[in-house]
Amino acid sequence: MSPSPAPEGATGLEGGGKVPRHVAIIMDGNGRWAKQRGLPRVAGHKAGAEAVRRAMQSAVDHGVEVLTLYAFSSENWRRSAEEIADLTGLMRFYLERELATLNKEGVRLKLIGDYSAFGADLVSRLERAVEHTAKNQRLTLVVALNYGSRAEIAAAAQKLAAKAAAGEIDASAIDETAVAAELQTAGLPDLDLLIRTSGEVRLSNFLLWQAAYSELLFLDTLWPDFDEQAFVDALNHYSARERRFGGR
Ligand code: FPP
Repeated sequence: MSPSPAPEGATGLEGGGKVPRHVAIIMDGNGRWAKQRGLPRVAGHKAGAEAVRRAMQSAVDHGVEVLTLYAFSSENWRRSAEEIADLTGLMRFYLERELATLNKEGVRLKLIGDYSAFGADLVSRLERAVEHTAKNQRLTLVVALNYGSRAEIAAAAQKLAAKAAAGEIDASAIDETAVAAELQTAGLPDLDLLIRTSGEVRLSNFLLWQAAYSELLFLDTLWPDFDEQAFVDALNHYSARERRFGGR
């Protein structure tokens, strides 16, 4: 890990490029990475967890404000009980091991998704980590756990409908800002760059609302191979694109 952040103005990017404030990653390809090496899937997830540490450090070093990671989708429950246990075991292990690093590097942990499904022990460890990092200001690391974007949007609609039914708001006042304010990402800067690794070109129910204007970057790299150079390449790719937001 690099010990100090890039000084202001020196991003380490080509041409002093614009750094995205909010980067999200669909971390895909752990299983294929392991298979290519004749290893069990869990070995791919372990290597994937190391890639998470590297990505977090790169985000800190390059001045990204928010890094959102798709760690467990609501569809991931379809995997074998053994693989689910491996994934949750890894989360438990890394939470314990990395808590000090999060605080040292100024990383605030935030969770999105219905993580209550993970059982009392993991839930309390997750919440403890959120509490213990709440005051950190350098990077917000958003971990999506048992997350699904459609469910998130439906929940926002439900809350707004309940407020309207209770007479707290007028139905005609439900606009894009009102919906965004009920999403779990409320208060975070808009998503600038969404990366998916491993050659799949799908959003898989991740941040559908939030990705409306973000740059999308699909890479062939398998997640465990995503290193600091890959992160910098992604930032350079972002800064090189002209962003028009649908206009001219
Ligand atoms: C996709 O690989 C990855 C996941 C299922 C989730 C990401 C999990 C990690 C990076 C490991 C642990 C996470 C933390 C936060 C410590 P895949 O199994 O779908 O790969 P495949 O498509 O090649 O089978």
